Amino acid sequence: MEMHIQAFLNRISVVVATIATLILFSILLHPPETCISQFTPHKPLAFPRSTCDSHHHPRPFSTIEKRNHRIWSTSAWLNKVKSFSRIFIDAQKHNLTHSFILSNSSKALCLLAGAGQEVMALQQIGVSDVTAIDLVDSPPLVSRADPNYLPFFDDAFDFAFSAQFDTVLFPSRFVAEMERTVRVGGFCLLIVEQCTNEEVREIAGLFKRGELVGADNLTFGGSKMSRIVVRITNSTAY
Ligand SMILES: *[C@@H]1O[C@H](CO)[C@@H](O)[C@H](O)[C@H]1NC(C)=O
Ligand SMILES: *[C@@H]1O[C@H](CO)[C@@H](O)[C@H](O)[C@H]1NC(C)=O
Ligand SMILES: *[C@@H]1O[C@H](CO)[C@@H](O)[C@H](O)[C@H]1NC(C)=O
Ligand SMILES: *[C@@H]1O[C@H](CO)[C@@H](O)[C@H](O)[C@H]1NC(C)=O
Repeated sequence: MEMHIQAFLNRISVVVATIATLILFSILLHPPETCISQFTPHKPLAFPRSTCDSHHHPRPFSTIEKRNHRIWSTSAWLNKVKSFSRIFIDAQKHNLTHSFILSNSSKALCLLAGAGQEVMALQQIGVSDVTAIDLVDSPPLVSRADPNYLPFFDDAFDFAFSAQFDTVLFPSRFVAEMERTVRVGGFCLLIVEQCTNEEVREIAGLFKRGELVGADNLTFGGSKMSRIVVRITNSTAY
């Protein structure tokens, strides 16, 4: 009698163990349906930014270098870099401001630089000292940092740039941090959706340490944009 019960119990434990194993396998083999996509409002990027991208586009393991090599040779990337280059070359040569706002030796800062097309543009035209940040990093061109709390000293840069000012949640804070990190005599350049002279003055008015020195309209990546240049005139110390 006891032998029967023992055998019965053994059989049950084998069945339970088998079911548990099957459930475990099915969990391991099926990735969760929900995926956390990192919110990147300012740029439609080819760069995979969420944990689910690899499920949607199965591809062999690839190093960051290989992936960058692939992305950097797409025509979307190259066109964007070319558009940025035009803006920066203009800033170097044209006298939008009757002074040089950017030179090869400038220490440049790019805010909300996305995947880093503007960084590559600056490097290609000869500006080698470029620092770029965004909320999500994109190595090796863009590091992760909060534009509202820049991890840089006051007056650390000669030139600061952003093409994403239109998307920022706290414009005054963004501008305050941007101008804090630029030395007196340095320049801030913003590319924004095309705006009237009054709107340009309004944006420039957010700069408490600087003054508007130039603005013009241009076509950038097929869109009508305005370029706003502010020169930093007052020291952070008062
Ligand atoms: C550009 O600005 C520089 C510096 O102020 C000045 O020397 C130069 O003559 C200007 N060039 C033009 C084309 O306006
Ligand atoms: C800046 O760098 C570019 C690219 O290396 C070079 O062609 C250009 O002559 C440099 N400009 C100056 C003023 O040195
Ligand atoms: C840019 O275009 C806007 C709208 O067409 C216009 O109001 C503004 O005066 C232009 N700005 C410049 C600097 O030409
Ligand atoms: C810079 O400082 C001067 C003198 O203290 C002041 O008159 C001027 O308004 C300041 N400029 C800005 C942009 O704050």
